[in-house]
Amino acid sequence: MLIKQVLIFDSGVGGLSVFQDVQQQNPYINYFYLFDNAYFPYGELEDDFLITRITELLLSFLATHRIDLIVIACNSASTLVLQVLREHLSIPVVGVVPAIKPAAQLSKNGVIGLLATPATIKRNYTTFLINKFAANIEVLKIGSTELVKLAEEKMAGLPFDQKCLQKILAPWLLLQKRPDTLVLGCTHFPLLKNEIANCFKNKVQLVDSGKAIANRVHQLLGEQRRGEVSNQHRAYYTKPVVTLCETQKSVALQRCFLTYGFISLDYYRV
Ligand code: DGL
Repeated sequence: MLIKQVLIFDSGVGGLSVFQDVQQQNPYINYFYLFDNAYFPYGELEDDFLITRITELLLSFLATHRIDLIVIACNSASTLVLQVLREHLSIPVVGVVPAIKPAAQLSKNGVIGLLATPATIKRNYTTFLINKFAANIEVLKIGSTELVKLAEEKMAGLPFDQKCLQKILAPWLLLQKRPDTLVLGCTHFPLLKNEIANCFKNKVQLVDSGKAIANRVHQLLGEQRRGEVSNQHRAYYTKPVVTLCETQKSVALQRCFLTYGFISLDYYRV
């Protein structure tokens, strides 16, 4: 039997936080990771452009790779393109959306914070989730692309700017009644879990969607056995490396993907 193959997709390295959970629960699967750094950050793009870009990119990738299931490991994309993708594709598409429901259930003081990209904060789908699952509690919001970039830098091995993080979270840190639960509504943010918790002196619960996505993948693909070829995970990016700085970053990212078990990181030409 052919080993199942799953594609994890994001604009950058954020999807690695989802990959970790998905792989832990579904170890006998071959993973591909595609990140669209040519158009990073997604949280700043126009809706129509994003829909067209993601649809074209994924259709192109699927034309040359045998994939059984796609995980859109990006809240900014999932809150917008899931329906369109499902109309175009015949394989299951699993999306990642902000974990408002579990956060609302976990909160003791009735104040939760949604930390996401500017795009995810303003999406109708996010408003729908808040109205449906957190109608009776206070939901504070911070939309930050800077925080996404901090996560990218950390994964590229650059020194972490804790002061910058502190500044991003200041609107909540200065409050008398701080949120006791945060929704990490961008897949880059679980990569900064410890740093974020530190800002709250660890007196905060952090919630993300990783485990729920892993369960969904398991449900859709079923129990897998160890295949003949496993651990051949491959990663791809979409922005050609031209400058010296880009070359250095790409070498650092190669190292990062290696630590997550990927055997290669290559340029994918659409
Ligand atoms: N990781 C992404 C998300 O979950 C996107 C970040 C970005 O490209 O703005 O929203």
